[in-house]
Parts: sequence; structure tokens; C-alpha cells
Amino acid sequence: MHDLAQTSKTASKPAPSEAPFLSALAGTAVSPPPIWLMRQAGRYLPEYRAVREKAGGFLDLCYAPALAAEVTLQPIQRFGLDAAILFSDILVVPDALGQRVRFAEGEGPRLDPIRAVADLDRLDLERTGDTFARVCETVSRVRTQLPAHVALIGFCGAPWTVATYMVAGRGSADQAEARLWAYRDPAGFARLIDILVEASITYLDGQVQAGADALQIFDTWAGALPEPEFESWVVAPTHRIVTELKRRHPHVPIIGFPRGAGAKAAHYLEATGVNGLGCDTGVPLEQMRALADRGVAVQGNLDPLLLVAGGEAMRTRVEATLAAMRGVPFILNLGHGIVPETPPEHVAELVALVRATTPSG
Ligand code: CP3
Repeated sequence: MHDLAQTSKTASKPAPSEAPFLSALAGTAVSPPPIWLMRQAGRYLPEYRAVREKAGGFLDLCYAPALAAEVTLQPIQRFGLDAAILFSDILVVPDALGQRVRFAEGEGPRLDPIRAVADLDRLDLERTGDTFARVCETVSRVRTQLPAHVALIGFCGAPWTVATYMVAGRGSADQAEARLWAYRDPAGFARLIDILVEASITYLDGQVQAGADALQIFDTWAGALPEPEFESWVVAPTHRIVTELKRRHPHVPIIGFPRGAGAKAAHYLEATGVNGLGCDTGVPLEQMRALADRGVAVQGNLDPLLLVAGGEAMRTRVEATLAAMRGVPFILNLGHGIVPETPPEHVAELVALVRATTPSG
């Protein structure tokens, strides 16, 4: 266990030079590379399940700052990772806008679908304040308890990905409902995206003011869109969010995670203005290397199932990844979130493997 208590009283906002994660995001090659894991707080940890039971529902946990701060810190205490990610969910934004989100046990999220312009009346940008304030309270509690060398990541879902849940009313394999609305009525769908751009800016701005050191924009379903729609619904809204956040907080780095973007990832990186690119498991190491050679930070991209398997398979791939990304700004992560079946010991092994990298080789 890593003791956070000792540093908590003197904790301060980290400077990039003292937090390896922020150095990498600033474009420096750090060795060994910083490591954190998407969904690092979650059901694979017994201490998470214990707090989750105490909280009741999943969203109740997200809206209880003391408990949400506790679970945010759990993977830092257990594994000594280089960054903490705020414990919350991308669906807090529709919930705050008035489209109530429910998480049925073992079933994933459920919302009353929004399918047409008339349904947008149910969303109210003016009433997000109370909900966002609770999440921001978690951010400030976590920041005061983290040592300065551990960065705190705030996040939101990208407008396109959040819209896919709002329109379908649940997670879907092909995001068909949102794609169909966008094809049939682009002007109407754009109004939903505009609402999400505004809400996301307010939400991320609040997280930075509360103490987030960096931000990540999760576009889990970016890969569902062909080129012109990728431009309209992934690149353009993300660019608007990044531009406004940069205007308000020029020194806060932003990572974009356009999952499944494939060959469009390089364009996404340039056109949105993000500082770092989160790569999914399908991105070849040579492509990650080529992107990082331009001086931007690249993050990724181990298969979450390698972390379940552990052993030789995990070690071989970690070594190949570290070798491919040597000498460029790189953050080691998974290509998607940790799955609940992951043995926590494998995470500890992964961290030890990465930290065993010597600065020279
Ligand atoms: O990374 C972290 O540890 C921070 C917390 C975090 C969660 N969700 C916690 C969570 C983050 C960053 C997310 C992002 C998120 N949420 C995304 C984007 C990234 C991705 O995974 O694709 C998406 C699409 C969601 C929406 C969502 N939340 C779904 C589809 C589900 C149900 C599926 C599941 O795993 O149960 C959730 C629930 C959720 N979000 C859990 C956690 C820990 C599990 C809830 C529980 O404890 O029962």
C-alpha cells in the first residue's frame, strides 16, 4: 500500500516537472513512462465493491463526494499509479441536464430516449449546477489528499458518445439510433450536440477550478462514424470544447480518446487541438510511435484482456510497447477500461514491469 496520509497536509498542485504524467503530456519523453489505467477504480477491486455497497446505487456513489473521493484514491493507494482519475461517469452530464439516468444492477445504463427536437425541451442547461457541484467537490477533496507527484485527471464524455446513450436510451452495439437521427435531421441533431458542447465546457471548467490537473475526453463510439460525420460530430464539437477550455485554462493539458478512429486519429489530433492522444487496442505500435514522433503525447494501448491473462502474454506485450515508445512522450495505459474479472495482482505486476524499465533502456 502507498501511504497518502503523510503527504496530504502539504499536498499542492503539481508542476509538470514534479509529476511524470504531466511531463509526458507536456511533450517530454519520461523513463520509465508514467502509468495509469482507464477504469482503474472499479469492480475488480474488493475495496471498491465494499464502498459501492455502502453507497447504494452507482450514481449515488458518483454524487457522494466523500465516498467518490475514497474510491478515486483506492487504486493510487494500492498500486502507486502516476495519475488518479476522478470517479464519476460520462452519463452524469445527461443526468444533470434533466434526462434522468438509472443503472440497473448488471444491465448498464437506462435513460428515457431523446429522439427528436421536441424532446430537447426536457434538457435544461441552467439546472446542471447542483449536480456538477457535487462532482467538483469530489475533485477538490481528492486533490488535497494526493501527493504532488500524482496528477488528477478530470473528464467528460465527448458529445457524440454521450449523445449515443441519450438517443438510444441505453448502450448499443452499433449506435444506430443516433446515427439515424444525425442522417435524417442533421440540423436537429446538431442542437443536441450544441447543448452537450456547452454542458461539457461548464463541467470541465468546474473540474479544473476544483483542482483537476489534466482532462480527458472519452469518445468511446468515435469509430462508428464515416468520414464526413466523423468531422461534424466528433472533430468539430471536440475542437469547440478544447478551444474554450484552452482559452480559460491555457496550461491544463487535454487528452482525446477517439476510440476506433483508426486512420482518422492523426487528423483528429491535429484538428481538435488536444495535447495527447489516447489510443485504443487496435492502433499499431508503429502508428503510435509515428504520432509521438511529432512531439505529442501518446497514451495506450494494452488489451484489457492481457491484464486478465497476466503472465508471459502480458510481459511480452508490455516489453514490446516500452521498446516501441522509448524516447518519445508516452503514457502507458490500456486501450479501453479494465474489466471486472481482472486480478488486482496483475495490475501490481504490470506497474512493477513498467517501473523496472531503466532510464537508459
Ligand atoms: O476510469 C475510472 O476509473 C474513472 C471512472 C469512470 C467510470 N466510467 C466509472 C464506472 C469513467 C472515466 C467512466 C467512463 C465511461 N462511462 C465511458 C467511457 C469509457 C468507456 O469505458 O468506454 C462510458 C461509455 C461510460 C458509460 C457507462 N458507465 C457504462 C456503459 C456503464 C455500464 C457498464 C459497466 O461496466 O457496468 C457504466 C458504469 C460504470 N462506470 C461503472 C464504473 C466503475 C460500473 C458501475 C458499478 O460499479 O456497477
